[in-house]
Amino acid sequence: MRSAPQKLVIAIDGPAASGKGTLARRLAGAFNLPYLDTGLLYRAVARRVLDAGGTAAQDAIAQAQSLNRVDLTRTDLRTPDVDRMASAVASIAEVRAILLDFQRDFATASGAVLDGRDIGTIVFPGAPVKLYVTASLDVRAARRHAERAASGIDTTLAAVRDDLAARDEADRTRAAAPLKPAPDAHRLDTSAMDADHAFEAAAAIVNRTLAHL
Ligand code: C5P
Repeated sequence: MRSAPQKLVIAIDGPAASGKGTLARRLAGAFNLPYLDTGLLYRAVARRVLDAGGTAAQDAIAQAQSLNRVDLTRTDLRTPDVDRMASAVASIAEVRAILLDFQRDFATASGAVLDGRDIGTIVFPGAPVKLYVTASLDVRAARRHAERAASGIDTTLAAVRDDLAARDEADRTRAAAPLKPAPDAHRLDTSAMDADHAFEAAAAIVNRTLAHL
């Protein structure tokens, strides 16, 4: 593992439950970089909109503006209602603009690994390493269903699959920063890979890129 040059940004995007979070965390550890799960920002805004009983865009913008008071370590950010509301607030351009500064500031001091939907396209279009992580809908649904079961959330595989498909469709087709691979992203399909295999493939890509920097 080569050591990362100062301020290296590794941008990781992909649909829900593609394995990008696990991968991002491991790359951050291996290359000694801070890690930001940018989905948590949208989830934290969504949680506060739900807690306030709100549904409208204005609520989401106000909650995003108070982001520095939002607790990203809350344990109730990964529930199905937050999944849906996060995707809804993420389609609001003003909310995205507010969260953009937070994401860029995060990587300013020492670089970072960030995962999300628009890291390689909008947040850090100049990142030297971009990964676009995918897996088939069936594989992603099975993974997410197992996670839900492990955290005690009672749901069916079919319901999880339908929710993922709906969220992907919304994320891909929205006008503001839609989910799509950056033209220079390395694509990694993890459908037939376990977490170790995905990490090895991604680390090889990062090392190859660092060798040419
Ligand atoms: O990654 P995660 O599933 O936690 O993200 C929750 C939602 O937040 C996504 O469905 C997406 O709508 C939104 N999101 C986004 N841009 C990001 C990260 C997440 O729009 N960079």
